Amino acid sequence: MTYHSKTLRNDELPAFDDRLILAIESSCDDTSAAILKGNQVLSNVTANQQIHEEYGGVVPELASREHQKHILPVVVSALKRADANLADLHAIAYTRGPGLLGSLLVGSAFAKSLALSRQIPLVEVHHMRAHIMAHFISDGTNEIPEWPFLCLTVSGGHTQLVVVRSASDMEVIGQTRDDAAGEAFDKIAKIMGLPYPGGPLIDRYAKEGDPHRFTFADPKVEGLDFSFSGLKTAVLYFLQKAVKEDPDFVEKNLNDLCASVQHTIVSILMEKLIAAAEQTGIKQVALAGGVSANSALRVTLEHTGNERGWKTFIPEFAYCTDNAAMIGIAGQFMLSEGRTGQLNSAPLARWRFEEDRD
Ligand code: KG4
Ligand code: ZN
Repeated sequence: MTYHSKTLRNDELPAFDDRLILAIESSCDDTSAAILKGNQVLSNVTANQQIHEEYGGVVPELASREHQKHILPVVVSALKRADANLADLHAIAYTRGPGLLGSLLVGSAFAKSLALSRQIPLVEVHHMRAHIMAHFISDGTNEIPEWPFLCLTVSGGHTQLVVVRSASDMEVIGQTRDDAAGEAFDKIAKIMGLPYPGGPLIDRYAKEGDPHRFTFADPKVEGLDFSFSGLKTAVLYFLQKAVKEDPDFVEKNLNDLCASVQHTIVSILMEKLIAAAEQTGIKQVALAGGVSANSALRVTLEHTGNERGWKTFIPEFAYCTDNAAMIGIAGQFMLSEGRTGQLNSAPLARWRFEEDRD
């Protein structure tokens, strides 16, 4: 027996600008809920999980349990801040994947139950596509990219160069062959003894450091693909040797180490982004994903954009790292295309970018 959302009221939806949508994101270690009216965010509430800090990375089972604890208060708080009631909602969007299965299950079960009880449409959103769609959130003043644009999506799990032709037509033209950029930040931070997630800490210490003090070789990867695992190994071997000679080496040189590592990662990303822009001829260039919160990457994109005559787009901080507002805006566009979900869709830990209609 199948439970199609056709049983829900998806034919009575108001127009985009009047549509109130609840969005739920629970793919990794942040439980987030947002309310959007059209492309405007009325509320965006996120509960972070501190519990993983001591383990040096996200522990999937602990993440699922934390989501269970947070999901109801986060949704209630999002409704309250938006001054909305359940009865006002026209649809519910949730992250179907990719991500940690136990974490996704919490958000998807919650979203489905609520959509069923309210008899409103459900929208199944692809997390990486939503990072890109965050650019279409409007506060009434920000500029929004025009199609087609080029987006460098850099998160803890993905590093992708995407040609975005429309909300539903996106093509990955380059990606990492091993670690993601955020993963490289986090793993190198861990090698230096910093807690998880190390990316924002490297960014903070790098502000006081010399980016040219230490040099690490750029990986040689052909085409538009990336590789970051070599850099992680290079830093590991370099530090093992240095610490043998001086046990306090990392502590004494933390700022310069962070600045040099950050400089290397940003250079690797920018080299491929420039190549992608040249290859496609696209001059509208955007950043998305958690690593787009990195201050050096943001500044470098702006400088490079000015030099090369690009129009550049960087999401607001709140919409860079995982958040439900981006799921909401992606959901709004999908609803406009009539792409509602099904009550019997299972969450997908792996979900190929191109197969978001699965
Ligand atoms: O998009 P996101 O919130 O979650 C995933 O979908 O993975 O990205 C999280 C990643 C983590 O690896 C984190 O260390 C990194 O984004 N990150 C940063 C910064 N803020 C978050 N990396 C470098 N500098 C930052 N300021
Ligand atoms: Zn993400």
